[in-house]
Amino acid sequence: MNQYLKMDEWNIIEEGFSEDNNEISEGIFSIGNGYMGQRANFEEKYSGKSLQGSYMAGIYYPDKTRVGWWKNGYPEYFAKVLNSTNWIGIDFSIDGEVLDIASCEVRDFVRTLNMKEGYLHRSFIAKLPSGKEIKVDTKRFVSIAQKEIGAIRYSITPINFHGTLTISPYLDGDIKNRDSNYDEKFWEEVLKKSEAWQASLVVKTKKLDFHVCSSMRYHITQDNKKVDSKAECIEKDKFVGNIVNINVKENEEIVVCKYVSNVTSRDYKVEELEAIAKEALQKAYEKGFEALLKEQSLAWKEKWKESDIVIDGDVSAQQAIRFNIFQLNQTYTGEDDRLNIGPKGFTGEKYGGSTYWDTEAYCLSFYLSTADPKIARNLLIYRYKQLEKAKENARKLGFTKGALYPMVTMNGEECHNEWEITFEEIHRNGAIAYAIYKYVNYSGDKSYLGEYGLDVLVEISRFWEERVNFSKDKGKYVILGVTGPNEYENNVNNNWYTNRIAAWTLEYTIEVIDYLKRKEGKKYLELVEKLGLKEDEVIKWQDIIKNMYYPTDAKMGVFLQQDGYLDKEQILVKELNPEHLPLNQKWSWDRVLRSCFIKQADVLQGLYFLEDKYDFHTIRRNFEFYEPRTVHESSLSPCVHCILAAKLGEQEKAYEMYLRTARLDLDNYNNDTEDGCHITSMAGTWLSIVEGFGGMRVRNGRLTLNPFIPENWRSFSFKVMFRGTLLKVNIKKDKVIITNESKEIITLVVDGDNYTIEGESEVTI
Ligand code: BGC
Repeated sequence: MNQYLKMDEWNIIEEGFSEDNNEISEGIFSIGNGYMGQRANFEEKYSGKSLQGSYMAGIYYPDKTRVGWWKNGYPEYFAKVLNSTNWIGIDFSIDGEVLDIASCEVRDFVRTLNMKEGYLHRSFIAKLPSGKEIKVDTKRFVSIAQKEIGAIRYSITPINFHGTLTISPYLDGDIKNRDSNYDEKFWEEVLKKSEAWQASLVVKTKKLDFHVCSSMRYHITQDNKKVDSKAECIEKDKFVGNIVNINVKENEEIVVCKYVSNVTSRDYKVEELEAIAKEALQKAYEKGFEALLKEQSLAWKEKWKESDIVIDGDVSAQQAIRFNIFQLNQTYTGEDDRLNIGPKGFTGEKYGGSTYWDTEAYCLSFYLSTADPKIARNLLIYRYKQLEKAKENARKLGFTKGALYPMVTMNGEECHNEWEITFEEIHRNGAIAYAIYKYVNYSGDKSYLGEYGLDVLVEISRFWEERVNFSKDKGKYVILGVTGPNEYENNVNNNWYTNRIAAWTLEYTIEVIDYLKRKEGKKYLELVEKLGLKEDEVIKWQDIIKNMYYPTDAKMGVFLQQDGYLDKEQILVKELNPEHLPLNQKWSWDRVLRSCFIKQADVLQGLYFLEDKYDFHTIRRNFEFYEPRTVHESSLSPCVHCILAAKLGEQEKAYEMYLRTARLDLDNYNNDTEDGCHITSMAGTWLSIVEGFGGMRVRNGRLTLNPFIPENWRSFSFKVMFRGTLLKVNIKKDKVIITNESKEIITLVVDGDNYTIEGESEVTI
């Protein structure tokens, strides 16, 4: 835990500069627009602790795998989102002395992430080693109105001197990833051009030849008048920039406005890049910083209109939920179906910036309820497009049929290289199937099933069919040698969650087949032909469903996480010396594996997904057994516990779990935020409020709510889009007000009763 940020409803605020916290803040104050993003690095030179990071979505590098002990089946590479051209850079020196706050006395330092309007603001006063003092105030953003554009307004005012200020705006493509496996650089120069007041740089990645063109223009004003001094060009390897010298006086403000456009060969032909970047840049330059910022703030206003959650009576919880929503919206906009949501988004390098099961298991619901349904659909289509690769992946591991989606991927190929995860965490296939169910159940868009869904479901089902084996001893189908969601157990037999989600996938696939047969006969026949679907297969799946083995303890009436779980010494987390937590940082891996402690929701993950198949008491018994054994050392865990606790009426527990997920990064709960924020678990925070406290589900095509309000909140409200309506659900201590902000009429269920709400009206319950 490290609580150094100020509480505020709309802003994240850091007051006072601490070099020790800088890398954490760089992650937390990150900005992005789904297309590009960056950590909150400084524009000016900084020689202190910093992880420089600027990323372009979908631009990655297949870094040759590095493992201690190679195992057949390992992927050749790990796909890394690339740290790319540093386009924010503006160096300053005063009479030859470089502005670098690591070597200055800094006062009045404030760094603010304005989430309402979508920009980063920083101001401070620095005393240089010579005693000269300057005041700095800088704002920057990446535009969500025009995705290629980033803009910076950097103001610098001499406080106690006159002299020569040297300003050097630049583009630097000579960039490294900190996590490079072989300490290599991944970029090569293609083109550089510098002229007075502008420059362009095209760099390309080694191996995959992704090209990125960054173009910059800038202007400088002194005392509000445009400076037209000489701008000298500088060019180095993968580097272009300018140098401008200005005579400055005490209290006279110098403002540099730098505009940058970044375009890539993912969207345009290589030979067009420079022209396209310049065209976008020209428009941005003509608009000017203030107009662009206005556009940005209006665009964010629209986003907030659809996704804001308002909490009255708890600033800390309010700030946290807005931070999570803000970061999710900064990471993925759904405009490009080739993209996905990396666990760190644009806030760091860890996890390679690739796609994990997190998307389907956690993130999908957020985008389903807060954005146009085509955005969630795009997330599903991403996997549909990678089906062939998932089939190849299964073949590579020796399966003769079916598809195994990768644990980590950028383009459909597996990138993960730890056998216990790559080969064994096969439950991810289940979440991909479950996401299809969740999408169709929520949106009502059944056309998805025939168009894309069945292909994926059938291939996943075929994989499960081959992956199970019939145990003569048990007279049941078993799944051996897996890792469940709880990664603190490996190579276990019959992980309850994996067995259950496998059988569920088969059940759902058969349900979809029946539906298509009944409702879309022609399409169904085409699909049977295309997929080579046989009656025998379905019969086999039915047999597996009927005879799947589930480890259970009849005495306690709980499902067992895996065979033999009860052989472990049963200790509860509360009995541990708190100094031993987090276990993954304090204990040897051997000790972790032998213990009964659970990293993240596992059996409970299954009960969350499939809650309607289990009665209240079964869920309660399992919750009461597993919650005290769970250390929540994956950020994805507390939200599931929050939602189940809320369902069980355990309001205090639900609130405790909410706080743990909501402020995970802001309070650096797991002591790892310097690596970047836990973007995918932020969707879990949203789920905690909407599905947890709001009790929102979709049953029989109707939105249903079972709300309660945490004790110390006066009220809270959230917005959801559901089948063409935009609803605001406002939960107060004594009533619930639901406002239908759209024109469509809707009937929904609150605490078991039906309510019909006309367009643009509300009901109070
Ligand atoms: C979790 C996984 C998750 C990954 C990326 C791990 O710590 O155990 O479930 O997919 O992080 O967020």
